[in-house]
Formats: sequence, structure tokens, C-alpha cells
Amino acid sequence: MGSRITALETGPDSVRIDWDDGSHGEFHYIWLRDNCGCLECRHPHTLERLFDLLTVPEDIQPDSAQIAANGGLKLIWANDGHVSDFRSDWLRQTCYAGDVAIETQARVPWDAAKAADMPEAVFGALAADDAAFLDWLTALRAWGLALLRDVPTEPHAALGFAQRIGPVRPTNFGTEWNVISMPNPNSNAYTDLKLTCHTDLPNWEVPPGYQLLHCLRNEVEGGESVLVDGFRVAEELRATDPEAFDLLTRIPLEFRFRDDDTDIHTRAPAITLGPDGAIAEVRFNIAIMGALRLPGHLMTAVYRAHRRFAALLREPAFELRFRLNPGDMIVFDNRRVLHGRAEFDASTGERRLRGTYVDHDVLDSRIRVLRQAADRAAAEDAVARS
Ligand code: OGA
Ligand code: ZN
Ligand code: ZN
Repeated sequence: MGSRITALETGPDSVRIDWDDGSHGEFHYIWLRDNCGCLECRHPHTLERLFDLLTVPEDIQPDSAQIAANGGLKLIWANDGHVSDFRSDWLRQTCYAGDVAIETQARVPWDAAKAADMPEAVFGALAADDAAFLDWLTALRAWGLALLRDVPTEPHAALGFAQRIGPVRPTNFGTEWNVISMPNPNSNAYTDLKLTCHTDLPNWEVPPGYQLLHCLRNEVEGGESVLVDGFRVAEELRATDPEAFDLLTRIPLEFRFRDDDTDIHTRAPAITLGPDGAIAEVRFNIAIMGALRLPGHLMTAVYRAHRRFAALLREPAFELRFRLNPGDMIVFDNRRVLHGRAEFDASTGERRLRGTYVDHDVLDSRIRVLRQAADRAAAEDAVARS
């Protein structure tokens, strides 16, 4: 980044910083004291905080605030003389007020018209190349969906790839599971029936974050995959039927899965909003909706809202449709993107998918770690060349 601080202006509870590129930021004293990174305040190995916020006054002030020799910010605190140094680039990266925006990881909404933009890569190209792997993960995070081609059609290939991202998420279906048409199925997925678009395991308090679905064999007639950006459709509902949208964000639905060994039930709304009002999560799965338990005066309106959302989710304008061939693997954000499949005819051949899940935290962590390693390598490279 390399920008230097050119001016400081101290106010009653914060300091304003001007950078040499004309941008500025504001930092509150209590925030700065809390984020002091010195060896007394943070453990040098664990990187965890040692400083105890309750040992300083709430209205903490600096005795002095100066631009340090390295272009950073140096503060000496009035209450105890503690010295805090902040690097200019760290302040910019963590700036929360001013015209240097904090990096927000934008999500890219999509619908059928964007089909050609779906991120994809070839398995072999990512295998030994962390930069390409990072690019693919970053695109997956933004789109909520990415395709990987030419994945070896080995039974544990999806699990192996998932484990390169991080620890996988086991569920009542196991650590990895087969999607095949079988006798005595415990899920509609294990038949040859059509699956309308759904999110997996909305009956869990926290449904799995990302789903990996790897096609090992596909000889059947039918069975095309369908994917829908649930956030995009929920925004459409918000714009066209705000009343339905509002109900679906507030009223808990029932989701329940049962078999001989399991009975997992949760109540949660179909659409969860984040603190900023942005859509944070979608739960939708008609097959495992439990019997709704709601005050009587809400039932008709909730059914109306749910039907409206269901109808929008089925509109072809929002759908991506394609056939998975052996070696294809789709990976998608299961709390955003809905997936389904067309009916197929199990008598025409074998269709075999293998799946596993990885949580959001794990994938986000892998992206950050790969990015930090790339930044370090670039910095070392710059030093070596200078
Ligand atoms: C599933 C599922 C999709 C498919 O197993 O949960 O949705 O294409 N499968 O079979
Ligand atoms: Zn300190
Ligand atoms: Zn599914």
C-alpha cells in the first residue's frame, strides 16, 4: 500500500488521519488502545490479546499523538504513559470510518442470463498452483457457485479436494455420501425422482456452508442439474412483494428430517437478514418442511408468502441448467444457492454423485491464509528486486 500519514487532527474522542493520497480516516481512542499490537498487549506467538479493556478508562485520551518516523501513528496514553504504535498500512486496512472503505467481500448476484460467467477451472490446473486455487475459491465465494472439471473419478476425490480447503463437516449422512437411486431410500435424493430446488439440511440449527457434488458416473436419461441464486431471488421477492418478504424473514418455519436413527428438527425463517438488512441466509426445502405451528391468524399469509417465494425460485429466468458429466464437480454455498435435479430414469443406466460439505468459516479461512502467503511472497519478491 505504502501510503504515509501527512496530518493528524485530534478531537475529544478520536483522531482524524490524512494520508498522502488525499484520503482520510477516523479512529476512536478506545478502539486504538484496544488494538495496540505491542508485545505487552498481544502475545507474540499466539497473537491473542493480553490487554484487558477494563484496565483503562472508558474515555481514554492520548497525552500526545504524532506521526512516527516510519509514517505511522504514535500515541502516548494519558492514564498510564503506555506507548502505542500503528503502521500506516494497517490503519488503512482496518479503517472503519472515513473515505477508505473497509474491504467488503462483494457477492455477485446471478441469474440465467449470466450462465456464461459461471466460474470454472480444471482440477489439474489447481492441483499444484495455490494462486489458481485462491482465484477459484475467491470466485466461488463471490458467485456462491463454481465448477471444477476433469476431477479424477475416484470415490474420495471430492473429500480430498475438500480437505485441501480444510476440515470437512460431517452430518447424519456421513462425512461423504453417495447420491444414487437405491432401494429403501432415507431421502428423496436417493431415488430417481425430480428434486425441486432446495438447500440441504435446513433442519440443522446451522446448515452446512458449502456443498461439493462430484459426478462419478452419469449414463441416465434425464437428471439435469438446476442451480438458483437464492439471494438474487429473495431480492426479487423483496422488490416485488415486500409483505411476503417481510413475513419470510420474521416467521419461523419448521424443518425436520427423520429416519430410523435420526430426528433433527429446527425452527427458522426461510430468509435470514444480517444486521445491515442484507440477505444472509436462505433455507428452502419443501421435502423436509415440518408441519407449521403458527398463530392461526398468520397461517394463510405465511402460506401465501412461501408459495410466492417457491414460484419465483422455479422461474426459468433465475435457473442455471446443465448436465453433470463424470469428472465434473459443482461446489456451491448451500446457505445461498439452491440446487435441484430433473427426474431421471434409473433403468437407463447408472447415475452416481458423491458429496461432502465444508463450512463457510473453513473456506473463508483458507482464502485469507492463501492471500496472506501470496502477499508475503510478493513483499519478499519486491525486497529481493530492490
Ligand atoms: C442431494 C441432491 C442433487 C442431484 O443429494 O441433496 O440434491 O443432482 N442431489 O442428485
Ligand atoms: Zn500496547
Ligand atoms: Zn440436495
